[in-house]
Parts: sequence; C-alpha cells; structure tokens
Amino acid sequence: MLVMELRCQVVMLLIMFLSYHVVDASKNLCDFPAIFNFGDSNSDTGGLSAAFGQAGPPHGESFFHGPAGRYCDGRLVIDFIAQSFGKPYLSAYLDALRSNFSHGANFATAGSTIRPQNTTLHQSGFSPFSLNVQWYQFNDFHHRVQMYRTQKDDEVFKKLMPKTKDFSRALYTFDIGQNDLTAGLFQNLTVDEVRANVPDIVGQFKDVIKSVYDQGGRSFWIHNTGPFGCLPYVMDRQLASAGQLDKYGCVGSFNELAQFFNHRLKETVDQLRKELPKAAITYVDIYSVKYTLITQATRYGFMHPLRACCGHGGKYNYNIHVGCGGKVKVNGKDILVAKSCDDPTVMINWDGVHYTQAANKWIFDQIVNGSFSDPPLPLGLACYKH
Ligand SMILES: *[C@@H]1O[C@H](CO)[C@@H](O)[C@H](O)[C@H]1NC(C)=O
Ligand SMILES: *[C@@H]1O[C@H](CO)[C@@H](O)[C@H](O)[C@H]1NC(C)=O
Ligand SMILES: *[C@@H]1O[C@H](CO)[C@@H](O)[C@H](O)[C@H]1NC(C)=O
Ligand SMILES: *[C@@H]1O[C@H](CO)[C@@H](O)[C@H](O)[C@H]1NC(C)=O
Repeated sequence: MLVMELRCQVVMLLIMFLSYHVVDASKNLCDFPAIFNFGDSNSDTGGLSAAFGQAGPPHGESFFHGPAGRYCDGRLVIDFIAQSFGKPYLSAYLDALRSNFSHGANFATAGSTIRPQNTTLHQSGFSPFSLNVQWYQFNDFHHRVQMYRTQKDDEVFKKLMPKTKDFSRALYTFDIGQNDLTAGLFQNLTVDEVRANVPDIVGQFKDVIKSVYDQGGRSFWIHNTGPFGCLPYVMDRQLASAGQLDKYGCVGSFNELAQFFNHRLKETVDQLRKELPKAAITYVDIYSVKYTLITQATRYGFMHPLRACCGHGGKYNYNIHVGCGGKVKVNGKDILVAKSCDDPTVMINWDGVHYTQAANKWIFDQIVNGSFSDPPLPLGLACYKH
C-alpha cells in the first residue's frame, strides 16, 4: 500500500512538474529497454509478409524506398513510438532474416483478430495469428531467451536478444480489435449480432494482458480501435447491416459499433487496474484522433479523407479485386492499374484499409503527449502508475 501511495505521489509530482515548468513532455523518463507489440496491420512491421509473402510495391515507397513488410507507404505509429525512444524499428517475430530482437519484438500481423477465427486467411483474409497465438509466441520467446541467457556459448545470438530483466521493464503495446468487428460484419452478421460478441472479444483480450503480467510485464500501452466505418474497404462492401452514411460520408452504425467496443475495452482496462496492482496501464483513445483527422482533414492539411491514395476506381478509389499495386491483364500483358497517388503526404488513407505514413505521423504527434490517454501521461511516462 505504501509503495502504491508513493508511486501515486511520484506521478502527482511529475504532473505538477510538467504543468508548471512546461517541460518537454516528450522526455522519456521511463527508459524502456524493449518494446513488445501485439496487434493487426495497424502495427505489423513484417509478420504477415514473412509468413505469407511480401506486401509488394508501392508499399513502403515513401520511406523505405520499397516493400518493408508494412501495409503503408512508409512508417506506422509503432515505428514512431520505437523511434521516440531512440530504438530501431521493431523486427517481426516471424521474420527469420536480419531480425534483431535486442530492443523488442513485434508479434502483430495484418488481419489479426483477438478471437481465433474459424476460417483460413485465403477464405476470409483474416490472419491465423490471432492474439492468443501472438501470446504463445511471446511466451515461447520469453522462455527461450531466459534459457539461452544462462548458456555460456551463443555470444553471437545473445546480442540479438533482450536481457532477462528487460521483460519486466519493457513497454507492452497493443492495437487490436478492429478485425474482430469487421470479421463478423463480413460474415453478414448484423451490427447487433456483432455487438453481442464484444464481451467475449474483450474478455479474451483481458486474459492475454493478465498472462503478460504473470510473466512480469508491468507497463501497458493500449490503443482502442479506430472509426472503421470511414474506411473504403468497409464502405465499399454492400453489407446488409450497413445502414445510413453520416454527414461525413462514413457508415455511422459501424462507427457506433467501434465506440461500443471501445467503451467495453475501457471498462476492461479499469478492471485490469484493480486486478493487476503493480501494472501501469495506459488506454489511448485512437478513435478520437483518427475521427478528428478524417472529419477535419482540410484543417490539418489533408485532402479526400475517404479516398484511398493507392487503389483503382470507384467512389473511394478502392476495388476489392484490384488492391494497391494490383495489375490487370490487357492483351496478355500485366498493366499496373492500382498505383499510388501523386502526393501521399496530403492523403489520410493509403490503400483503402490502412493509413498513410503522413496520417500515422499526425496520429503519433497527437497521442505522444498524453492528451488522448487515460491516465493523461505522455508516452515517455507510461511506466508510472495513476
Ligand atoms: C541490434 O540492435 C541494437 C540496438 O537495440 C544494436 O545496438 C545492435 O548493434 C544491433 N545488432 C545488430 C547485429 O544489428
Ligand atoms: C469458432 O467456432 C467455435 C465452435 O463452434 C465457436 O465457439 C467460436 O465462437 C467460433 N469463433 C468465431 C470467431 O466465430
Ligand atoms: C453476405 O451477403 C452478400 C449479399 O447478400 C452475399 O453476396 C455474400 O455471399 C454473403 N456473405 C457471406 C459470408 O455469407
Ligand atoms: C499535444 O500535442 C498536440 C499536437 O502537437 C497539441 O495540439 C496539444 O495541444 C498537445 N497537448 C498538450 C496537453 O500538451
């Protein structure tokens, strides 16, 4: 109890210090030695590409000058998070080539859900690496790092692994849930039917956080889910349950579903704080940041918030059959039809599903100082308890 009160006072002092002295809030007082990330394509830095084939060009063109395992023209929010701590970008756990896990590992894959799906990737587009599988991988990774650390040989490999004590001091980041909701909708469940699954979905999420805590994890940074009712790949499908477009052109009922999920996720985080007394758990309202960006795009220097930069045709420059980088056979020749737009830096949506690097940077800039966090602490203080 005393320790908790002390920690509480430390946070109070830090908040006072930050507000009275207008200290650079991006200062990273927590000094996380590693970051372990779990999630879907919003934070996949090469997992699905390693397992199922690379996301081809023009993915990666704006920053990596070629495909880099990301569904984006450049960097993701998780890349900006790693960079803000002076760390290299996270290697995907599934990537067997040139991976360096000394500063963390990324278990996220594009198409991942919290709950395991009963369909294959080829049937439905959802990844077999659901959150429980990402947890098995983390568990194995953690145990084998501990085992190899005790062995005298293997100096070469040890340099590519975290230290044993890094696991309790690391930052654990999560961005997952959107695909659980869309998976239901794509199976033609109604919004209400998907809503009925949300308690089970957040329940399985909660189990994974507790399992990481049981292995020593203490600092958690949890993104809620975005307004997927504004994304071309969802709007483009003629879904039975779609309903009306709102004044911004988004599917209102889908955004309400996202908010319903987020509400339950936030309640779950509140319960976790009680059940895991030594954890510092930060809940980050990514929904509000993305919704503000999409609905006030011009104010922030962006254009055509509902159109994909890289795509082919239709109202949203999106075609489910010809994705970003897609070719069409014309007289026996492959012609690239789904090209990148002229200036991805003014676009929010990259390929109909994912955000551009420019949007990701903007989102990161909003969340890094804690203005969308509960408790309202900057990323660099996410190790301190509320
Ligand atoms: C692995 O990453 C660490 C930084 O976390 C760096 O110091 C080290 O040189 C890297 N090792 C290799 C082989 O790239
Ligand atoms: C998969 O099938 C099992 C058994 O029928 C069921 O309990 C589970 O809810 C299903 N999962 C999803 C995501 O629909
Ligand atoms: C959902 O409904 C659409 C339109 O009726 C249909 O084309 C599609 O096959 C259905 N999908 C599933 C998974 O049942
Ligand atoms: C956080 O950063 C954003 C973007 O730079 C800025 O608009 C906002 O005022 C900042 N909030 C605080 C509390 O510093």
